[in-house]
Amino acid sequence: MRRLLAIESSCDETSAAVVAEDQSVLSNVVASQFELHQEFGGVVPEIASRAHVRRILPVIEQALQQADCALADIAAVAVTSEPGLVGSLLVGLTAAKTLAMSLNVPLVAVNHIDAHIYACGMGQKSSAFPCIGFVVSGGHTNLYECHSATDCRLVAGTTDDAAGEAFDKVARVLNLPYPGGPSIQKAAEQGDPTAYKLPRPMMRADKLNFSFSGLKTAVLYAARGVPGPDQLSETPPECVADLAASFQQAVVDVLVFKCKIALRKSGHRRLCVGGGVAANRLFREQIAEMCRRQSVELLIAPPELCTDNAAMAAIAWEYLDQGRTANLDVDVLPGLVR
Ligand code: KG4
Ligand code: ZN
Repeated sequence: MRRLLAIESSCDETSAAVVAEDQSVLSNVVASQFELHQEFGGVVPEIASRAHVRRILPVIEQALQQADCALADIAAVAVTSEPGLVGSLLVGLTAAKTLAMSLNVPLVAVNHIDAHIYACGMGQKSSAFPCIGFVVSGGHTNLYECHSATDCRLVAGTTDDAAGEAFDKVARVLNLPYPGGPSIQKAAEQGDPTAYKLPRPMMRADKLNFSFSGLKTAVLYAARGVPGPDQLSETPPECVADLAASFQQAVVDVLVFKCKIALRKSGHRRLCVGGGVAANRLFREQIAEMCRRQSVELLIAPPELCTDNAAMAAIAWEYLDQGRTANLDVDVLPGLVR
């Protein structure tokens, strides 16, 4: 069976995977850089690119080894080329171009957002498409109407912060470690989600767009126990768990509500959710409950395929079927074009 080597380096994870033509994931190595960005409370692009340079070859070698696959057995090389951090993307793309050229195999340039949605259907018996696709990550909170794996049209996005970005920034306010999503989830386990009355921004049926900056500011003020920005002081530790739980619940309420509205408006009966925030336990429970009530099929990637990884670049098999290979002069596209 044909196998492809996939490479992902769009943000702060260096990842390589070997995926067979039947979608089976033979290896999926992810080297995360959490420890490098921790002291800054967020990804520092320059540090991220340098770490990718150091890690990319060992990660590729490990992925091939774990899959028991020689370079000569690779039928194509797939790589995330858009969107993401420019320096980070360039490291993966350069490695992929070099390998594709020297092995004389096709190069496939993959859209990271499409790959996040595609990951939901991997390993499933039935097709994931058509569906409402929801990518909720550190960089995006986007709803799509997806006609096929390679035809997803943007319906709504965030007007300011992405949901994952809000998790990361609120974690900083609460002095919780980076990345904020998992540490807020953990802190929230000991907290009361009703302890603080936080806003649910833009939670209106006529608006599909998201906004999280007001909620983030509300947490900042609540954390300091004051109504305005002029009287900031330290957060009492006993409040951290309650604030984490209240914030997490507010974000989840908004995410679940908007998915419900998008499904209702479009008439789609299937929802595919991917991206790092989709790894959140409370979100997974509550989105599943909403879908059950609405009799909508939910496809949500397992947590390890929600956060950035190369296996989801298996979408490259679809591109190859359509003859969509890339030339060696293909460039990165840091911004989201659609
Ligand atoms: O998809 P991803 O790995 O990278 C991007 O493409 O952005 O998502 C990373 C984001 C981070 O903001 C991180 O805090 C968030 O996903 N995240 C979570 C959880 N795990 C990761 N947010 C909430 N709960 C989680 N368990
Ligand atoms: Zn991502």
